[in-house]
Amino acid sequence: MLIKKPDDIKTSEITDEKLYFSRRNFIRAVALGTSATLTTLAYRGLFVPEEKVLVNQEVISNVQPSSTPLNLNGEEPTDFIDITNYNNFYEFSLSKQGVAPRAKNFISRPWTINVEGLVNKPKVFDLDELFKISPLEDRTYRLRCVEAWSMVVPWVGFPLAKLLEKVEPLSSAKYVAFETLNDPERLPNQSKTGLFNPLDWPYKEGLRLDEAMHPLTILAVGIYGKVLLGQNGAPIRLVVPWKYGFKSIKSIVKIKLVDRQPITTWNVEAPNEYGFYANVNPEVSHPRWSQAEERRIGDFAYRDTKLFNGYADQVASLYNNMDLRKYF
Ligand code: MTE
Repeated sequence: MLIKKPDDIKTSEITDEKLYFSRRNFIRAVALGTSATLTTLAYRGLFVPEEKVLVNQEVISNVQPSSTPLNLNGEEPTDFIDITNYNNFYEFSLSKQGVAPRAKNFISRPWTINVEGLVNKPKVFDLDELFKISPLEDRTYRLRCVEAWSMVVPWVGFPLAKLLEKVEPLSSAKYVAFETLNDPERLPNQSKTGLFNPLDWPYKEGLRLDEAMHPLTILAVGIYGKVLLGQNGAPIRLVVPWKYGFKSIKSIVKIKLVDRQPITTWNVEAPNEYGFYANVNPEVSHPRWSQAEERRIGDFAYRDTKLFNGYADQVASLYNNMDLRKYF
């Protein structure tokens, strides 16, 4: 049970494999004297059956069509109930089904994002200002998780570039660093200590400045025309559709323009497994599983994973002359 060859691993198990095979969790499980099986069952939420949570949220008025091509190829959006009940948000739970019930009462108002660093006009934006930066658009994108599952999510959001333009990046700014809220009262796993603490907080992510300015990169404030729920990163999160889902950091409070590649949570946790770039690439396997296929949540079908998650014609030029195996 403890060690499986990648061939023996069902795709449906991959989430949990990542958790208990990741070096840190493995060491923790051993140190805690628990068997990996027990740990896995607990992580899967099998000891605590979770009901699917259906919460009605405020409707966002006046959502505009996307100002950039969506390249959907006729793919249908995933059901709202699946998008909002199958989540990765470790600050609440390590079980996908466990996030929604724990995030149900998440307080996401008032909220501000500090935009600072190598900019001419640093500024703290409140939610009202963020909702008005630029017309809110329908950005229905594929979301491909590094764990080999995918969804199609009808995000409502606006280009991150519109926010960055407001603060006027200096020519020395080369990267953008993002941070999630750090508040153990509202994000319960942040209060865990030592071996029980799943990650180093706050969750951090980063992009190269040209990736951040790309028209496909958005800050999302809604899904299916309604404001974001806690489990999806309320009130505002990043979405970078050609990269693995872990780049799309939730519940952002800080954006900093910097001159060096910033530290990012999963890259620090397991650098040989989760690269800084994390571009979706069926040719570059995760060390423990293939990335050639993905399971679409809701229809149980497997489909071929596409380079840059199907957005190659829009983003491949960002990586001209770069070895995508080296910079994975
Ligand atoms: N952001 C924070 N702060 N914490 C997280 O655990 N998980 C990431 C990403 N953003 C995560 C996060 C991962 S692994 C994925 S796949 C996506 O969020 C999932 O987004 P969703 O739950 O809205 O589908």
